[in-house]
Amino acid sequence: MGTVIAVANQKGGVGKTTCTINLGGALASLGHRVLCLDLDPQANLTVGLGIDLNTVDKNIANVLIDPDIKLTSIIRPTKTKNLDVAPATLELSSAEVELFNAIGREMALRDKLSQDVVQRYAYVLIDCPPTLGLLTLNALVAANGVIIPVQTQYYALKGVAALLKIIKTVQSRLNPKLKVLGLLPTFYDSRTILGRDMLDSLRELGDHQVFETVIRQSVKIGEAPTAGVPIGVYEPRSDAAKSFADLAREVIGAHK
Ligand SMILES: Nc1ncnc2c1ncn2[C@@H]1O[C@H](COP(=O)(O)OP(=O)(O)OP(=O)(O)O)[C@@H](O)[C@H]1O
Ligand SMILES: [Mg+2]
Repeated sequence: MGTVIAVANQKGGVGKTTCTINLGGALASLGHRVLCLDLDPQANLTVGLGIDLNTVDKNIANVLIDPDIKLTSIIRPTKTKNLDVAPATLELSSAEVELFNAIGREMALRDKLSQDVVQRYAYVLIDCPPTLGLLTLNALVAANGVIIPVQTQYYALKGVAALLKIIKTVQSRLNPKLKVLGLLPTFYDSRTILGRDMLDSLRELGDHQVFETVIRQSVKIGEAPTAGVPIGVYEPRSDAAKSFADLAREVIGAHK
């Protein structure tokens, strides 16, 4: 059975989508079958993996709302070998509102992820929106692991505490299998004191795991999505590609 990992942080622009695409790419290049699932109405993951939104008809919004639409029916291959995507569109924001009144609303994604999909992939990576609403909750209920990207450019730990609290509630009430795989330091710039301070204070917190891998600030990371491929394909020799390969190895290790 595959490992389902949610990439979550309600703070915007911390590198969730970047992590989902590039960790997905790194796992795929190691030969694993990977599904990147877009749970954000902004659809940055979908676009960043080279899908033209004009060509997306049925998407994750329909899957969550309509009992008759299977997740497998919306999955598309990407330009990258071993890497598929379950696309989102802006429709997902109205679907979230609609889902609010549904019975079992927190379980909608978990139900759709069962059997056929999870058996087909070694890893399913879920890109969450920058909110702590019903979509992120669905991801946390469906996942067995969560990665929390944290930007090391300002003191962003207050928001992380709120997220960790929700994760605790999900673990105790809805999904005991959920494990925090780690906080992932992003946008790291070793030249700044703030960056180094932030990294130190993350590691000192102690009661949760911080990945050894640090994602540095890099222009190439911002460029790769415009080509619709992960950094490991776009610029295989870059430091950023190596970092995501390291992260992939850490994630694989955590789930052995
Ligand atoms: N390490 C990095 N170095 C430089 N730019 C980065 C890095 N990581 C991400 N970016 C860029 O910063 C922006 C925000 O990153 P990303 O979209 O991954 O964040 P996000 O947490 O998914 O945002 P949102 O909360 O809006 O979904 C993007 O333009 C991305 O290309
Ligand atoms: Mg995003």
